[in-house]
Amino acid sequence: PARKAALKEEVKSLLREQDAVLVAHYYTPDVIQELAEETGGCVADSLEMARFGNQHDASTLMVAGVRFMGETAKILTPAKRVLMPTLEATCSLDIGCPVDTFSAFCDQHPDREVVVYANTSAAVKARADWVVTSSIALQVVEHLMDQGKKLIWAPDKHLGSYIQNQTGADMLLWDSACIVHEEFKAKGVLELKRVYPDAAVLVHPESPASVVEIADAVGSTSQLIRAAQTLPNQLFIVATDRGIFHKMRQAAPGKEFIEAPTAGSGATCRSCAHCPWMALNELEVMAETLRSGSNEVLVDPELARRAMIPLQRMLQFTA
Ligand code: 13P
Ligand code: SF4
Repeated sequence: PARKAALKEEVKSLLREQDAVLVAHYYTPDVIQELAEETGGCVADSLEMARFGNQHDASTLMVAGVRFMGETAKILTPAKRVLMPTLEATCSLDIGCPVDTFSAFCDQHPDREVVVYANTSAAVKARADWVVTSSIALQVVEHLMDQGKKLIWAPDKHLGSYIQNQTGADMLLWDSACIVHEEFKAKGVLELKRVYPDAAVLVHPESPASVVEIADAVGSTSQLIRAAQTLPNQLFIVATDRGIFHKMRQAAPGKEFIEAPTAGSGATCRSCAHCPWMALNELEVMAETLRSGSNEVLVDPELARRAMIPLQRMLQFTA
């Protein structure tokens, strides 16, 4: 604890000295979220992270999350230095959508508007008409449907089919998934509900349809936190990364939260309701990044110029 406290203090003074602000996702370790809260940074969902970094006047952004979040920050604010505790923090959705095959797929369907999730590389964003996060995906698709558009949706097939079910939109879905959310199991959630019949079920739409179907609330991380505040229940079964419990407990003091069961709960579980890449955002590596100025996020300027267009559309859509 003494070492952790000393490191926290060191990171705080390095952030100050370097005119840097910490932008963290809800899935990062508690200590990183605390640091963001204590230093005037933000802890947020992926859309709010992008917006906060875009509006803040610090000359350096320290982005704690996964690589697409750092790249988004760099694309939106090219004049800023964007650092990440590690550049190794990827995302299974990003890995599952390589730009060459994706681009060839889009070329086969020139009549379709290309909508991609923020959890993609800069190169995939550069090929897209729209970038969305889970908090605005439904509304953007409804907006495009109103204009009579047919869509390509990538990469998350679960979020894509959820939106398709909700809206009836004509969408061709890319076949990729989040390794954390796809492991939640409806059977396990229903068994838990039998033990705790008064519990409400909160589900991120990157989860399989069978889990979404039994949810009391479905939404992005920030929407799930709001649901924990506003629903009258005292107990919640939560199907998203357990890093979110830090904010849920703050937002809904006195309420209780249990992890939704995953297929591999126990020794063989691959991700166990916790993203292995988000977990790389450790205090020690953040301190080292600030000391050495390493792990700067750089994006090819031509890709950035093209990716900026759908990213700004994303921010403006919610403005
Ligand atoms: P939110 O946009 O709901 O925060 O989810 C993003 C995500 O999947 C981060 O891993
Ligand atoms: Fe990607 Fe899933 Fe990790 Fe989010 S939780 S960064 S979607 S692998």
